[in-house]
Amino acid sequence: MTTTPTAPSERAAHARHGYSSYQITLHWTIAVLVVVNWLLGQGMSETYEALEAGQFVSNYGAAFMHICIGITIFLIMLARLTARLRRPVETAADSKHPLLAKLGMINHWAFYVVLLAMPPLGLLAWFAGAGWAGALHSLLAWVWVALFVLHVGGALVHLVLGENIIRRIVRPTAGT
Ligand code: HEM
Repeated sequence: MTTTPTAPSERAAHARHGYSSYQITLHWTIAVLVVVNWLLGQGMSETYEALEAGQFVSNYGAAFMHICIGITIFLIMLARLTARLRRPVETAADSKHPLLAKLGMINHWAFYVVLLAMPPLGLLAWFAGAGWAGALHSLLAWVWVALFVLHVGGALVHLVLGENIIRRIVRPTAGT
């Protein structure tokens, strides 16, 4: 039976150099769902604004899809966070460039914050009519774009420096 290390020193000793097949599957599922929901966001915004202006809306298709996919993203992000906290991954060890490794870590945790915050904010805007939540939700949608550009850009910089870290999120390592 395997146990999850709890003490920081124990966790560091158990840190792995990559992700499990479960984590990799969740990563790519989220990537696809977020892009789809981003594209549906335009339709959602139009519906939301029309309702706010007191106009009649006949088609709720995009809004319905947006809400369902958004809640799914939230649940998968919770699963990812749990898996990530249970399985320490050594990121800095793979890079000869500690600053780049640190920036990568900040980028990864910022994704968790943004993608876990967006769905509840969207729900508050839609169901409770909280305009501030809608505005923050839209702002975070653009923060996500910035994070995504830095995420892909960072991976390419690592590649140029001769470190193929992309294989870590493609080829699974043992464990869950
Ligand atoms: C992580 C999942 C989600 C992503 C990536 C996402 C993405 C987006 C995007 C890109 C927009 C358009 C922003 C703009 O152009 O200004 C938007 C608008 C909106 N979304 Fe989401 N969304 C998510 C989850 C949700 C959920 C679960 C709800 C629940 C009802 C929701 C409700 C809304 C509302 C009400 C708007 C209009 C906000 C406004 O115009 O003020 N979203 N979303």
